[in-house]
Amino acid sequence: MKRTILFLALLTASLAAVKAKTLVAYYSYTGNCKAIANALTSQIKADVLEIQPAEKGLRYEANGYALGTQLLEAINANPDKASSYPAIDPVSVTLADYQNIIIITPLWWSQMAAPMQTFLFNYGAQMAGKNIGLIVSSASSGISGVEADCKRLIPDGRYYSKSLWIRSSQVSNAATLVSDWLQQISFTDNNTSDTMKIRVSDGTNAITFELNETSAAKSLYAMLPLEVKVENYSNNEKIFYPPTTVSYGSDCIEGECPAGTLALFSPWGNVVMYYGAASRYSGLYILGKAIEGADGIRNLTGTIRVEAVGAASGLRSVKPAAGSASRGYDLDGRLVAEGKKGIVVRDGRKLFMK
Ligand SMILES: Cc1cc2nc3c(=O)[nH]c(=O)nc-3n(C[C@H](O)[C@H](O)[C@H](O)COP(=O)(O)O)c2cc1C
Repeated sequence: MKRTILFLALLTASLAAVKAKTLVAYYSYTGNCKAIANALTSQIKADVLEIQPAEKGLRYEANGYALGTQLLEAINANPDKASSYPAIDPVSVTLADYQNIIIITPLWWSQMAAPMQTFLFNYGAQMAGKNIGLIVSSASSGISGVEADCKRLIPDGRYYSKSLWIRSSQVSNAATLVSDWLQQISFTDNNTSDTMKIRVSDGTNAITFELNETSAAKSLYAMLPLEVKVENYSNNEKIFYPPTTVSYGSDCIEGECPAGTLALFSPWGNVVMYYGAASRYSGLYILGKAIEGADGIRNLTGTIRVEAVGAASGLRSVKPAAGSASRGYDLDGRLVAEGKKGIVVRDGRKLFMK
């Protein structure tokens, strides 16, 4: 019985980890919502789905918005019938994979644009219980009608406390509006908290390693960020000594170490980055593997910076300190320009830069 409960608990935990992902679904006729989607996905980790009408080249605004009006009237006349909704290109999405869904749509005649309504008519039932965020762009009209459409089409969604309204004239400022909104709704993108990633860089070469779940990997991760000297060892290793001891337990794994392996040599306490393969050795515990930039390991020299990428620590709102020298990275570990707004990983922490 106990084992069954433990198994169910583990299964639930692993399913929660799989589901903790974000989908951004957008439709854009004249490009505003597309720009908003880009501003959003440069700040959070998400899969992106663009909704496209099946019939191409239609001009919804022509003749006093005649076609746009006609599409909405058809929906309003029979909102429960699939044939009321304009056809869209088939989409390939497994909604079970996502816990957060952010819808970005234009407003048409104070309602949700018709092609987005089609998508939600087809998939809204599968979004029950998911966290739903809504971003609406209009020229000037208020968005309560779009919110009502969204609630009709995803009746069992768990809506964030407020939607975001971005007027066409504000689209150039979308990054700031989106970042403020993410903060207001306390959005947490859980994608990056499932795996620990670290970045090792000497300023010229940068390598991203994905860590395993062992106690040694967690111990190293907890020490970050570090600035340490990198040393040559043998003809296949670069090594460094963390300032404090990396602890390890019986869960740690010995095994073959192909090029790109990150390991702890526990007898000496040094971390090893392999650029040539090594055999299994007693007390040599695998911490992870390079997922980007492995070719750069052999060239690392001097002082290296070791820091968390997409850090699992909480999101904090900060204003950059004057003269702040540390570098910022996006959630994929790419160096970002000084002054970048939104979510930036700095000193191993995920920060909200305003
Ligand atoms: C058919 C149609 C109807 C629209 N109706 C309204 C409206 O009632 N009120 C408004 O403020 N904007 C209206 N707009 C303007 C769009 O909501 C606005 O330009 C929006 O930013 C467009 O987003 P997009 O560039 O992603 O398509 C309408 C646009 C179209 C094409």
